[in-house]
Amino acid sequence: MWSGWWLWALVAVCTAADTFLEEAKRIMQDTPVIDGHNDLPWQLLKMFNNQLQNKSADLNTLNNTHTNIEKLRAGRVGAQFWSAYTPCDTQNKDAVKRTLEQMDVVHRMCQLYPETFVCVTNSSGIRQAFQEGKVASLIGVEGGHSIDSSLGVLRALYHLGMRYLTLTHSCNTPWADNWLVDRGDDDAHSQGLSPFGQLVLKELNRLGVMVDLAHVSVATMKAALNQSLAPVIFSHSSAFALCHHKRNVPDDVLRLVNQTGSLVMVNFYNEYVSCNSNATLSQVADHLDYIKKIAGAGAVGFGGDYDGVSSLPKGLEDVSKYPDLIAELLKRQWTEEEVRGALANNLLRVFEEVEKVSRHTQIPEEKPISLDELEGSCRTTYGYSSGPSLQHQAWALLATPCLLLLSQRLL
Ligand SMILES: *[C@@H]1O[C@H](CO)[C@@H](O)[C@H](O)[C@H]1NC(C)=O
Ligand SMILES: *[C@@H]1O[C@H](CO)[C@@H](O)[C@H](O)[C@H]1NC(C)=O
Ligand SMILES: *[C@@H]1O[C@H](CO)[C@@H](O)[C@H](O)[C@H]1NC(C)=O
Ligand SMILES: *[C@@H]1O[C@H](CO)[C@@H](O)[C@H](O)[C@H]1NC(C)=O
Ligand SMILES: *[C@@H]1O[C@H](CO)[C@@H](O)[C@H](O)[C@H]1NC(C)=O
Ligand SMILES: *[C@@H]1O[C@H](CO)[C@@H](O)[C@H](O)[C@H]1NC(C)=O
Ligand SMILES: [Zn+2]
Repeated sequence: MWSGWWLWALVAVCTAADTFLEEAKRIMQDTPVIDGHNDLPWQLLKMFNNQLQNKSADLNTLNNTHTNIEKLRAGRVGAQFWSAYTPCDTQNKDAVKRTLEQMDVVHRMCQLYPETFVCVTNSSGIRQAFQEGKVASLIGVEGGHSIDSSLGVLRALYHLGMRYLTLTHSCNTPWADNWLVDRGDDDAHSQGLSPFGQLVLKELNRLGVMVDLAHVSVATMKAALNQSLAPVIFSHSSAFALCHHKRNVPDDVLRLVNQTGSLVMVNFYNEYVSCNSNATLSQVADHLDYIKKIAGAGAVGFGGDYDGVSSLPKGLEDVSKYPDLIAELLKRQWTEEEVRGALANNLLRVFEEVEKVSRHTQIPEEKPISLDELEGSCRTTYGYSSGPSLQHQAWALLATPCLLLLSQRLL
């Protein structure tokens, strides 16, 4: 008798769990997940120096990464912001070249696997890819150092498909501060956004590029949330209240996210989920619940950070696991509409707002950053040195060792 009861209870529990998973998969048939951040391009650089023709780089069989074609299909991933990432040690060196190469490798992924990936640059492209059952592929440039403090480079990256720019990675740029400032490991430099940083933001708004606040300091978050004409995103960040890591988003910022109709795409990295080297799917769901509670159901999304992190929660080991996470949300009584929002509709809403705010007919910002704000000694100074201001020229000479050397030789 007892064992009979036990068996029935087990069957009931299992059937309920199956039902949530089935329901998740049904929803994801027409609303697949849009993930905010995946570092597969970085893995392709590290493992194959971006040589996609290498037999081992075949994305159908690649198996030591969190991401491959089969896993994307199983995970019902319908759109992916691929990260064009170059580490902070390339700042003031070859950051722009490295960024271009990571953007190029995404374009070549689309070319090599046209039945799986379609490179798109706007919200209607994402919707179209959903219809075609392909993975809409977009590019997020991860780190303001990638523009080398140049609005010209920013615009060129836009033309190559950049649709979000993370204002910093884990280093300050001359115009925006990163999260290490809040941990006391870097000095505050721009107090949020410098005047040039504000021009960067303005230009992103004008072009229709989403502003990404993952990795930035709280002061930078607040400045951007205050000044952006369109909602912004956190492409891969979680809730600070649940894990006191400075990469996460604190409550007061979550309230600004709500007020501005912005979006937090939750990062799955164990260290941001549990502040510990291990974590679970359920703890990720806790972050989603929490952000929903503070910022609203319209402010939640997914930014797994797959292939960019060294550990992932039990139950979310690779990109194939998304349906299990959706099943967990359904179990926690998220409505179908809320789930569809988190999966795709919230990002689409933000992206469409950003597109609406864009003004391609408006004159581009032209004011260069002042020479003395730049660091590093490897740039030439064309344009600056022949400028009208002699005083500026003197400053430039003082500011750059390369030029100092040059001037000594001339003397
Ligand atoms: C392909 O990539 C693997 C792993 O990086 C490497 O060992 C191998 O030499 C590469 N093959 C070719 C033909 O470049
Ligand atoms: C992983 O891929 C490598 C290279 O394609 C292959 O030799 C190996 O058998 C694969 N392992 C599994 C478990 O599929
Ligand atoms: C979206 O991008 C496609 C190219 O992928 C382009 O043909 C289309 O005109 C764009 N739509 C809008 C509304 O800009
Ligand atoms: C930005 O901050 C200023 C000054 O604190 C405030 O008056 C304004 O309402 C804020 N704007 C937005 C959009 O948050
Ligand atoms: C989680 O990690 C901590 C140390 O990082 C360890 O003490 C603990 O046993 C781990 N828990 C599980 C369930 O693995
Ligand atoms: C912001 O909060 C209000 C009140 O809780 C809610 O109605 C609204 O949907 C939230 N906005 C978003 C984007 O979720
Ligand atoms: Zn990151």
